[in-house]
Amino acid sequence: MDTLLIATHNTGKVREFEEMLAQLGITLKSAADFDLPEPEETGTTFTDNALLKAKAGCEATGLPTLADDSGFCVTSLMGRPGIYSARWAETEAGRDFNAAMVRVNEELGEAEDRSAYFVAVLALVYPDGREEIFEGRIDGLAVWPPRGNKGFGYDPMFVPSGYNMTFGEMESAEKHKISHRALAVQQFVGYLKAKAA
Ligand code: IMP
Repeated sequence: MDTLLIATHNTGKVREFEEMLAQLGITLKSAADFDLPEPEETGTTFTDNALLKAKAGCEATGLPTLADDSGFCVTSLMGRPGIYSARWAETEAGRDFNAAMVRVNEELGEAEDRSAYFVAVLALVYPDGREEIFEGRIDGLAVWPPRGNKGFGYDPMFVPSGYNMTFGEMESAEKHKISHRALAVQQFVGYLKAKAA
């Protein structure tokens, strides 16, 4: 594999992938390089959504394509917001993750079990139709009130197991060592290295 399409318009994600995949000597292209439309996330699982984004990118460009889908899952809420994590933040005025965190906390109410986790799924699709899935997950607790302003999304209300700080209080380098996304990318890198060996 010489060239890989990262099927996202999110420049932050593209940069993260560039950093994490730099060691592999693969040329990375992004959805913006091809002016690709963003497919609607109509799947019912993280894997469905990652796959539909990767397939759309691969069909449009003919390149092996990697796409991701991720979210915040709360055990007592039966895994919600899950694939709807971004949608819970949608308001008429734009995305508001404070409002989304308030909703999570309100729905939790007096629940004793405040365990929660982040999931990231990466889907790799080849032009010949082959598919590979890589998944990362980090467990922890949904805390209240939110703390820290370093991360994004639900970071301020998530304390990973074995830590006292929320993701919102952690330096990004620290978070990127243990995050769901980092774990999924590590698996992907391991797969590529094994293939090249
Ligand atoms: P998507 O993967 O771009 O569809 O976004 C999923 C949503 O999940 C994001 O908008 C965030 O709300 C949430 N999310 C995913 N990963 C993280 C994370 O590392 N920290 C905080 N929120 C996250």
